[in-house]
Amino acid sequence: MKKKIYIGVAWPYANGSLHLGHIAGCYLPADIFARYNRMKGRDVLMVSGSDEHGTPITITAENEKTTPQDIVDKYNKEHTENMKQMGISFDLFTRTTTKNHEKVVQDIFLTLYNKGYIYKKNVKAFYCNHCNRFLPDRYIEGTCPYCGNEKARGDQCDECGKMLDPEELKNVKCKICGGTPEIKVSEHLFFALSKFESKLKKWIKKNKHWKSSVLKFTENWLKEGLKDRAITRDINWGIKVPVDGFEDKRIYVWFDAVIGYLSASKEWSQKIGSPDKWVEWWRNKDAKHYYFLAKDNIPFHTLIWPSILMGYDETLNLPYDIPANEYLRLKGEQFSKSRGTAIWIPNILEKFDVDAVRYYLSINMPENKDTSWMWDDFVAKNNDELVGAYGNFVHRVVTFTYKNFGEIPALKELDDFDKEALEKIKETSMKVSEAIEKCSFKKGLRAAMNLAQFGNFYFDQKQPWNLVKNDKEGCGTVLHICLKIVKALAVFMAPYLPFSSDKIWNVLGYKESIHTISWDQCLEDLKAGVELEKPRPLFKKLSLEEIIVPAEEEVFSKLDLRVARVIDVKDHPNADTLYLLNLDVGELGKRVIVAGMKPYYSKDEIKGKSIVIVSNLKPAVIRGVKSNGMLLAAEDENGVCSLLNPGDATPGSKVVIDGIPQEPVNVLEFDDFKKVNMIVDENQKATYKGRILYTEKGDVVSDRPVKKGAKIL
Ligand code: MF3
Ligand code: ZN
Repeated sequence: MKKKIYIGVAWPYANGSLHLGHIAGCYLPADIFARYNRMKGRDVLMVSGSDEHGTPITITAENEKTTPQDIVDKYNKEHTENMKQMGISFDLFTRTTTKNHEKVVQDIFLTLYNKGYIYKKNVKAFYCNHCNRFLPDRYIEGTCPYCGNEKARGDQCDECGKMLDPEELKNVKCKICGGTPEIKVSEHLFFALSKFESKLKKWIKKNKHWKSSVLKFTENWLKEGLKDRAITRDINWGIKVPVDGFEDKRIYVWFDAVIGYLSASKEWSQKIGSPDKWVEWWRNKDAKHYYFLAKDNIPFHTLIWPSILMGYDETLNLPYDIPANEYLRLKGEQFSKSRGTAIWIPNILEKFDVDAVRYYLSINMPENKDTSWMWDDFVAKNNDELVGAYGNFVHRVVTFTYKNFGEIPALKELDDFDKEALEKIKETSMKVSEAIEKCSFKKGLRAAMNLAQFGNFYFDQKQPWNLVKNDKEGCGTVLHICLKIVKALAVFMAPYLPFSSDKIWNVLGYKESIHTISWDQCLEDLKAGVELEKPRPLFKKLSLEEIIVPAEEEVFSKLDLRVARVIDVKDHPNADTLYLLNLDVGELGKRVIVAGMKPYYSKDEIKGKSIVIVSNLKPAVIRGVKSNGMLLAAEDENGVCSLLNPGDATPGSKVVIDGIPQEPVNVLEFDDFKKVNMIVDENQKATYKGRILYTEKGDVVSDRPVKKGAKIL
């Protein structure tokens, strides 16, 4: 029987777009591993899905003024699409809101309950008197007792990764209203994690092959002693608790999500029409289970999920390896949905080729330490390594051969250098294999890139452009060897750069997809005489200037947009079209700005209005009067001019958009500001790059109807 490899990949919350941090953290490494193992002839089952329950979803729904169902439908669809576009080759990417999942979760829950691993207990929980409700973890925020992070959630601190009990947090605030919640008693169901402590310890002792960071993290946890954990929550979005008396509560989202690893395996089996097939991975002692995730998910996979499995059914396989990654940061800051610092997959795929993105994420993978996505480095690695070394080698070999032979030339007499080249292929195959088997993906990719560099060196030394003139047979041998290197590279790169490898494969005259062939094909002989397809360049050079979007977004993040109320309007003493507006900007105080609104608004119309201003624009003297900032107005192609209307937001409140962090500078130069292109959309909303400007009270709209696309300045 083929060796079975199970690959579970962390389930992304369906509450926002995926960003590069997600991909680098777990989906890409999992995919590299899956593709490699399939080529090695192993039976791979790789599953994941959207994590659709719990407070991460309800909070997003509340923020976006819609229902949890809407949110999860939207993002499940987007994630499914993005995974496909990124080439993440799941056997099944499902969701936690399926009937199948509910059934599996409730069965496990009830079994653990009947075995005494789940028990009832009264707990003190935070209750917000103002909001009239118990506050689950994510509805409270406080200071982490371990690292001092002030934005720790009730269940976990994102900075130090510790799981927390809400009572441990200091300085607790209700996230809904900002008030200070009080502690009340409520009955919950607890998972007896402590009962698994000694079993877990024994098991972890056997797992010497784990990454040291994962081991250390887990051992520290065990050292402190495992606490039983509440696995019910006071919310109404989630899987129902199959125990009487808990009708108002739902199963804790993490308890439900990890079970997805098993339920998805069952769903996949049903889908392929062989409902018991999952057993071949889950009850077969020779099957190996790998879990890919980023470091904040470690304890759920090294302790909680294994305990659930042990308690539920001893015959099920435990994880074999959990090669958790560190974080990919954006210039040092963690990619994070909740804080709006991220590069979103839907955006990035509009601009760059998938394999270029996969290359940079692979060579820069946060395997052992955090790494950063840096745009200049992305461009440099793309141009120097992907295009300059790998792409260039393939392209020059294939175009030269295509032009001079049109087919794969025969291999004739070999000299020592030729033999070395052939030896190099074998050696690289071993190196890449060895690295990927150990989940050292960067190392594997570097080994493959070394072969590309060697190929360039060999080509340069052999000078086929000279040989072709007087020793066509010798030239053919050189090109044959070069093509063997190209073929081997296509195989070695296939797990990393699946799309370009497929292209090379076809150029070499193979009809099937490279992802269906065996790894050992990389060493097999090339058939002389096979016609080559017309080659096209594999990768594109990039220039930093072309990537203006992030640079422009950087400027946007420097803006300090605020709501201001017009207290008073006066004519400018020296100009016919200008007003002097006296503004109340809340916490920023009062100030005067000069505005060219006189042709469009009467004094009465403007007085008392709420408007939007750029509060940190460098003060300018306009016709003898100093203006402390600038108001935002829209003007369409018909010359209609309109102020922006922030509704009833209080003066001083911020105007923001999703997806771009707020890092206002003290003084913003006007030239910088000019780079930001905001427009009014078809719904009269003020937008930047298709994203709506909003305040805590709602979206910013045009005060008067203007045509779609009206520029905001
Ligand atoms: N949704 C979680 C997160 O984004 C990960 C869940 S992983 C699983 O952090 F184990 F629950 F599947
Ligand atoms: Zn509250």
